[in-house]
Amino acid sequence: MEKIGLDGGQSFRPLSIGSDAGVTPGPPVGVISMTIDLIDAKTSPRDSDWIKQVLPQYLTDLAVFDPDYFRLAARYRKAPDSLDSWLSQIHVHPLVIAADQQRAGFALIVQAPFPGVSRGVDYRMGEFFIQPKYRRRGIGRRAAWAIFNRFPGVWEVTELPKNEPAIAFWRSAIGEYTGGDFHDAPAGDVQRQSFRTAGA
Ligand SMILES: CC(C)(COP(=O)(O)OP(=O)(O)OC[C@H]1O[C@@H](n2cnc3c(N)ncnc32)[C@H](O)[C@@H]1OP(=O)(O)O)[C@@H](O)C(=O)NCCC(=O)NCCS
Repeated sequence: MEKIGLDGGQSFRPLSIGSDAGVTPGPPVGVISMTIDLIDAKTSPRDSDWIKQVLPQYLTDLAVFDPDYFRLAARYRKAPDSLDSWLSQIHVHPLVIAADQQRAGFALIVQAPFPGVSRGVDYRMGEFFIQPKYRRRGIGRRAAWAIFNRFPGVWEVTELPKNEPAIAFWRSAIGEYTGGDFHDAPAGDVQRQSFRTAGA
């Protein structure tokens, strides 16, 4: 498996401690030592197959906030092959997120110029998913940071307005990554965050 954007080069930032002055900040014991790898699914058929396998689960999660996604989830359950052409696009970067060598989730990054990427933006987080059993362990946050480091530039991320957990997640992950220097506003029928990575 070819791995890119290995977490090894990424400095770990402790959580903000808010008003708990005097309390040692940081993630729960066991999380800080977890290895996060980003696996390029384009060059790994087993990993792109895995994304196809869990995609309906992701769409079903989103359907809680927008029932249209049930239709999409049903379609991908019946015809998982329909993802192939999309995954082979030069401007789409499908990544499997592995935590301690276990596939925990995936991200699909879309690069300009590609339909749906806003003017002036280099990269859009097209899809982002952490499997339920791996959630709330800081894996999504660390994977997002590793992805931003791997693809420096102007970024945008959008969420369904009713997907409050995702909005809270992205505000937290991007807020920590940028030190609060990001734009966050409704944009049409989605909530949108945009920012520039430090290396860009
Ligand atoms: C949203 C999602 C990616 C979060 O992944 P995760 O690995 O659980 O996130 P993390 O553990 O890194 O969370 C980092 C911070 O984000 C916030 N956060 C994460 N999940 C949250 C939730 N369900 N409710 C409120 N805040 C949340 C918290 O501030 C959290 O820090 P804390 O756990 O110390 O309080 C995951 O829940 C998911 O895949 N959901 C379904 C698909 C989806 O909605 N994807 C996003 C599409 S835009």
